[in-house]
Amino acid sequence: MPTEISLLTEADIPAAVSAVQEAFADDPYYNWVFDTAKFDKRRNTASVGIRCRSGIRQGLYYIAKDGETGKTLGVSMWLPPRPTDRPQSWSSWLDDWRVWLEQVGMNLWYGRGGLNLKRYWIWRKAQAQAHEEIWTDPRGYYFLNIMVVTSEARGRGIGRRLVAAVTDRADREGMPCYLESSKAAPNIQIYERLGFRLAGDIVCEDEDEDGGGESSVKLYCMIRDPQPQVSSLARGKEEDLHQA
Ligand SMILES: CC(C)(COP(=O)(O)OP(=O)(O)OC[C@H]1O[C@@H](n2cnc3c(N)ncnc32)[C@H](O)[C@@H]1OP(=O)(O)O)[C@@H](O)C(=O)NCCC(=O)NCCS
Repeated sequence: MPTEISLLTEADIPAAVSAVQEAFADDPYYNWVFDTAKFDKRRNTASVGIRCRSGIRQGLYYIAKDGETGKTLGVSMWLPPRPTDRPQSWSSWLDDWRVWLEQVGMNLWYGRGGLNLKRYWIWRKAQAQAHEEIWTDPRGYYFLNIMVVTSEARGRGIGRRLVAAVTDRADREGMPCYLESSKAAPNIQIYERLGFRLAGDIVCEDEDEDGGGESSVKLYCMIRDPQPQVSSLARGKEEDLHQA
C-alpha cells in the first residue's frame, strides 16, 4: 500500500496528536516528567496541538498517510536552525511569544495536567548545558523535535522517509541535524541507520522521590553531519511531496 508524505495541515492535527500520544505512552522522558496518575489527556492534546500549529507555521512538520485509506501512519516535526552568530529573526521571536502565550492560556484552563514542574526545569537546565557543549556549529541545527511512526506501521521505511523530508534539504544546504531520544534501544540503532551519530547525553536527576517512578532519566543526543549525495529513496520522497 502506498504511503504519502506531505506537510501537516490543520485538518491533520487530531490524528497527529493521537499518533504522538500513542507512541510516547512508554517514553522514558515523558514518564519521568509527568506524574502518570495525574496525567490529563485533554491538556496534553492542547499542548501537542499548540506545537503542531507552530510546526505548521515554521513549515517543517510532515505527516505520513496511507495513500488508500488516508490513515495517519506517522509524523515528524523539525525546528529550523537557530544561528548563534546572528540575532533571532523577528518572525521566529514572535512565534516563540505566541507559543508561550498559548501555553499560559492552556495552563490556566487545564492546570499542569500531571506535569512535574521541578523535573521540567531540571530537564531544561540540563538540556541548555548539553546544547552549549554539543552544538558547536554557529549556523545551528535542524532539530528533529517529534518523530513518531504508529506501532503497526513501524519497520516499513516510513520513519526513514519522514526523516529524509528534512535531511535531504539539510544535505543540499550543507547543514547539520540534531535529535534527542530517551529510548536507547532500538532508537540509537535506528537513527544510526539514518546517518546520525551519538554526540553526548543529557542526564536529568531528581533526588526527590515524591515525583514518583524513576528518579533520573537520560536522553541521548545525536548529530547528523551533512552528507553530499541525494539517495534514490529521497528522490522518491520528493516526488511524493510534489504529488501531495
Ligand atoms: C523511531 C521510529 C520513528 C522509527 O520509524 P520506523 O518507520 O520504524 O523506521 P524505518 O522502518 O524507516 O527504519 C529506519 C532504519 O532503521 C532500521 N530499523 C527499524 N527498526 C529497527 C529496530 N527495531 N532495530 C534496529 N534497526 C531498526 C531499519 O532497518 C532502517 O534502516 P535501513 O533502511 O538501512 O534498513 C519508530 O520506531 C517509532 O515511532 N518509535 C516510537 C516513538 C519514538 O521513540 N520516537 C522517537 C523519539 S526521538
